[in-house]
This record gives sequence, C-alpha cells and structure tokens, in this order.
Amino acid sequence: MQGSRVKDLLAASHAQGSVEVRGWVRTRRDSRGFAFLEVNDGSCLNNIQCIVDEGTEAWDHLEGVNTGASVCVRGALVESPGRGQKWEVHAASLEVFGLADPSAYPLQKKRHSDEFLRTIAHLRPRTNKYGAVFRIRSEAAWAVHDYFRARGFYYVHTPLITGSDCEGAGEMFRVTTQPRGASGAEDEFFGRPAALTVSGQLEGEAFACALGRIYTFGPTFRAEHSNTPRHAAEFWMIEPEAAFNDIWDNMELAEGLVAHAVRHVLTRCPDELGLLDAYVSPGLVESLQRMSEGAFARVSYRDAVRLLQESGSKFEYPVDFGCDLQTEHERFLAEDHFKAPVTVYDYPRGIKPFYMRQNDDGETVAAMDLLVPRIGELIGGSQREERLDRLERRMAELGQDMKDYWWYADLRRYGSVPHSGFGMGFERLVMLLTGVSNIRDVLPFPRTPGNLEF
Ligand code: 4AD
Ligand code: MG
Repeated sequence: MQGSRVKDLLAASHAQGSVEVRGWVRTRRDSRGFAFLEVNDGSCLNNIQCIVDEGTEAWDHLEGVNTGASVCVRGALVESPGRGQKWEVHAASLEVFGLADPSAYPLQKKRHSDEFLRTIAHLRPRTNKYGAVFRIRSEAAWAVHDYFRARGFYYVHTPLITGSDCEGAGEMFRVTTQPRGASGAEDEFFGRPAALTVSGQLEGEAFACALGRIYTFGPTFRAEHSNTPRHAAEFWMIEPEAAFNDIWDNMELAEGLVAHAVRHVLTRCPDELGLLDAYVSPGLVESLQRMSEGAFARVSYRDAVRLLQESGSKFEYPVDFGCDLQTEHERFLAEDHFKAPVTVYDYPRGIKPFYMRQNDDGETVAAMDLLVPRIGELIGGSQREERLDRLERRMAELGQDMKDYWWYADLRRYGSVPHSGFGMGFERLVMLLTGVSNIRDVLPFPRTPGNLEF
C-alpha cells in the first residue's frame, strides 16, 4: 500500500477511516500526555498535523523523532478542533524509517539565507521556499508543453552534442575523450571538434521545414564567464520554430506563451505563490495577475533607444543606435516605462547572429527580444533569413565557414519558406513566476563559473 499524499488528505471532503501518511517531520511539539508531529511529504506546501497520544502503540516509537526524521503514520483522519487546519491524523501506529540527529541536521526551524542554502543544495528543496519554487518549476514545464501541444507544435529532441556554434558567440564547452593537454582533430571521437550545444535552433529549423511547427525543450550550455544573477552555464531553453510564420506571428506566439504560463501557475499553485508573495517578492501575485490579463507592449529598437535617451535616467552604459541593450536598459523599459512585458524588435544587424532576416532598410534585422520586469531579457528570437544569397553573404561577412553549415543552407535550397522562432530561458521564466531574483535559486543544482558541487 502506497498510503495517501498529504495534498489529497487536506483536500478531503469528509472524515475518513484509517489513513497512512509517509513523510518527514517538520516540527515536533510535546505536551503532557500527547505530542504533535507536523508531517510534510512534499506533495504541497502544507503539513498534516499528527497527534500521538500516550498509551497508543505510536507513542512507544516517538524516541528520537525530531525535525527531519522520516516516518509513516497510520491513524484516523478527523476534523481538527484546532485553528489553522481542517484535518488532522490521530496516530494509532508510528513507524520510523530514518532519524535525523538534531545536533547535526542543518535545516533546523529558523530562517536560512539563500547563500547558506546554496551550500546544501541537496537539502534545500525540503524548505518551504524551495519546495514552492520547484513545484512551480514543474508546473511551468507542463504549461509550456500544454501551450505548444494545443497549437499543433511537435516536440523535437535536438542533439546536445554538436559541431556547430548556433549563436556564433564562441561560448561553447568542448566535448572530448582526450586527457587534458592532448589535441589534434585526428584524435577526436567524432572525427572533428565537438561541443555542448548553446541552442537547438538550427536543427529545429530543419524540423520546422518538415513538420511545420515544432519546439524543443532541453538543456543548453554556455561557457559565459559573466557571473550574474541571470546567467548559468547549464540552463534549459524552450525553442519553438514555425514555418510560414513572420516576425509578428512570432511575437504573438511569445507573448501568448508567457501569459499562458502565468495563468497556469496562478491557477495551479496559489499556496506556493502566496508564500513567495509574503516572504520573497512582495507584490508578486498582483504583478502576475496583471501579466495574465495580457497587456504586453511592443516598441522598435529605434524608438526604444530614443525613449532611453530622453528618459533623463542615469545609466552606467550609454545608449546609442547600434549598441546592445544592457540589463539596466531592458529593465528600465519593462519596469519603469511600459510597466509591463515589452517586445523590442528590429535590432541593428551588427549586434545579432547571422541567421536573422535582413530588413529592407539595410541596417536592421527582424529580431525580437521580450523583456520583463525584474529580469530583463526573457526571450530572444527572430524571423530567419530564408534567402540563400543573403544568408551566404552575411555568413561570409561574419567569417563563418559555410562548409560547416551546408545542411543549413540546403534548407534554403530546397523549398525555402519564411519562418521564425525564439528561445525562452526556462529558468528566467521560473524567476518571473516565483519572484526569485537569482538564477542559482531556481535551478535544482546550479552550474556557474567556479561551482560544480553536487
Ligand atoms: O537570446 P539567446 O542567446 O537566443 C538563442 O539562443 C536563439 N538561438 C533562440 C532562438 O531563436 N531559437 O537565448 C535565448 C534565451 C535568452 O533570452 C535567455 O532567456 C536565455 O535563453 N539564456 C540564458 N539563461 C540562463 N543562462 C544563460 N547563460 C543564458 N543565455 C541565454
Ligand atoms: Mg538574446
């Protein structure tokens, strides 16, 4: 018998006979003649209160049961006379799976800093805050799949080991079987240099040009040395790609995805959001509610630069046409100016990768970034250059070796179509949904420069 999940017991509509709960003790309080155990099994934020009375068989097994111990409680689910919970379990028997030495167990009942909890990333999901974050992360992933599936997108698994640098930014981790120091293409396992992928986009385009609408959702890797609260060396990315979609269709798809994920989590995780609103990010629920109503702004890069220049704000980095927007600029636009998620489009071609479709003005490409309050860039995408001659010219200008991309060029050679797509950083979405401000705290086991514990 598997027993019951606390989540289901707390939602029970009437008292039940005998139930069985397996979980971890959050707190133990002793009184004369009885003890309270607050048991949490991870199924939801709430604990179930179990009362152990002197004289029961359960009472005989209480020795050493403290915060962190794992137990199985069998007993009756009855209406609770106390405040704060509807149901409680009157324990008949108590089985202990594993004790937790109170003098050593690091998660005692007090508030711990995020920095400390990162050093015990194997234990932190047992806290209320991290439990909430990772249940929301799970729901957010389901929301992504639901969204694309409902719109006829097929889920494609693109490779993690690759020979091409999609973003052309040279931030790839090498993959090799050779010991440190050895080199030479002839030693390579694959017969050529290999790396961990920074994006599944190029392979995704091949499938979009066959299945029509596809998305990927998997890990990506970037050897960026920027130690910021928004960058990780390993993160998950969602990349839809749709044949016959232009940049405007792409923006709609991106805005719809964010609004859908927000609505999904508002509906499915009210308790988790309530906790995060109270203790992590005041105003979170209200800001998500506003986003779910779907007021998204759009502005061209050219106008965005003008807004920034005329804002009167002091920025660390100056803004001018041709510069890449910094996080401070992105946050100004989303937080202060539009007070909503905003899509900036038509960026200068000089700061964007080779695959973006060149606009007729000769200066810009059909790029789009969706910026959100508190984080900045959540999504980056574009319409793709479907004209072979333009693509080849641009790759030559950027010094990219066409022979590595022969198959990518083939997509333009045989039945080329207008198409577009984007990449959404999944952790940044989870940051948006939880109000957590550091990417290290929404990744189960974060990988960042200098950090590979666990
Ligand atoms: O803007 P990026 O670099 O775009 C691409 O990789 C395109 N190939 C996507 C596409 O069009 N199919 O990355 C997309 C998103 C960013 O907007 C950001 O949210 C996230 O991925 N991202 C990171 N998240 C965490 N850590 C990092 N180091 C990230 N780099 C990018
Ligand atoms: Mg980007």
